[in-house]
Amino acid sequence: PFAFTGNKFEFRMLGSEASVANPNIILNTAVAECVHQFAERLKDVPEDKMEDAIHELIKKTIIDHKRVIFNGNGYTDEWIEEAEKRGLFNLKSTPDALPQWIADKNIELFTKYHIFTKEEIEYLLDLAARLKAMKKNGVVWNPLIGKNIAMIFEKTSTRTRCSFEVAAHDLGMGATYLDSTVSQIGVKESIADSANVLTTMFDGIEYRGYGQEIVECLANNATVPVWNGLTNDFHPTQLLADMLTMKEKLGDLEGKKVVYLGDARYNMGNSWMVACAKMGMHFVACAPKDMYFPDAELQAKCKEWAKESGGSIEFSTDISSCEGADVIYTDVWVSMGEPDEKWAQRIGDLMPYQVNADLMKMAKDTAIFMHCLPSFHNLDTLKAQDLNKKFDITELEVTDEVFNSEQSVVFEEAGNRMHTIKAVMAATLGVDPDRD
Ligand code: CP
Ligand code: NVA
Repeated sequence: PFAFTGNKFEFRMLGSEASVANPNIILNTAVAECVHQFAERLKDVPEDKMEDAIHELIKKTIIDHKRVIFNGNGYTDEWIEEAEKRGLFNLKSTPDALPQWIADKNIELFTKYHIFTKEEIEYLLDLAARLKAMKKNGVVWNPLIGKNIAMIFEKTSTRTRCSFEVAAHDLGMGATYLDSTVSQIGVKESIADSANVLTTMFDGIEYRGYGQEIVECLANNATVPVWNGLTNDFHPTQLLADMLTMKEKLGDLEGKKVVYLGDARYNMGNSWMVACAKMGMHFVACAPKDMYFPDAELQAKCKEWAKESGGSIEFSTDISSCEGADVIYTDVWVSMGEPDEKWAQRIGDLMPYQVNADLMKMAKDTAIFMHCLPSFHNLDTLKAQDLNKKFDITELEVTDEVFNSEQSVVFEEAGNRMHTIKAVMAATLGVDPDRD
């Protein structure tokens, strides 16, 4: 329960840079937690006893939390004195309130409710589309002049690095590239210490690397926004670009069927499952056995979210699950950071799940082929030539024919990385072209 002294909450005289969204998020989360606690207590009560149980619960809650109820005039000093007597917070300034924002119990609460909603994702996609149109029309919008971002890359990158760097410059910011061969990060200096150092100089930090816990450690220690540029587990900014591309090509996201073929248990498969669950899309992971599907805990969470959004989550070993698909998606079979020894088994297991012309025929006529890239579709790379020598193959997760077909949108998808990453930085640094 939280102190509530009138018949509504009022937010008055917000500072010009403040957004009312944050207090609303906090209040909604607190209410969600209370409703959740109530639901937990009532879930095993038989229907004929429900009404009494609800009355009992309300009575008990009021008694237990009497100290937050005040029926007097909430605008007088009387209530301020009373609140103090009752040991309630009265935090008058942002510096006083911030320690609560980052208190462990509150971080836990926000993590529990996965506070990133369909509406927020839609806002980012809409903002990215607006920023893309502005760029196309030559409109310069650089509201973040004077700010700087740090970009940490413990794994290699073309699209993500270029997107952050170009987007930062477009918005007026400087961008500094750091990797473990040219910085102390992760080698001589811990992630937590690095976060504290970078916070003193930068207004935002991008991280690409290994464990999800590393980017979370950065986020927990930095006081500026931290953006996930890919970990072993997730690649969220890629998904924003993918969804923007889908919207451009297919219209609405809701109700669309996305079949993800191949190694669905890594960053891209996980991220697609989450995106579909949140956005009301139908996700099918198509792979030969359980070991290629996302882990059980994430599956369970996504199934819950899908129930709320009207989407669905399915796992199939049969490529006929591509029938009726709006999007056919695949990714490399051995990801960055995985050992080369994995290739033999992956090629053996996943070759029947290669995206080829026959497989594309099973999807809708209007279906598009998507891939986060880089992709192994011909022998024009050193890696492909090496694999060709070892396994005598010329193309892997997708054939050259599909990659270059009319249905393939892979390069527009790559271009959308920049617009969506720009949207993420603008939104998290508090600027919007309709306002700033
Ligand atoms: N899709 C993607 O993240 O590409 P890069 O590895 O080139 O950044
Ligand atoms: N799964 C791939 C994605 C690359 C963008 C990897 O992690 O290497």
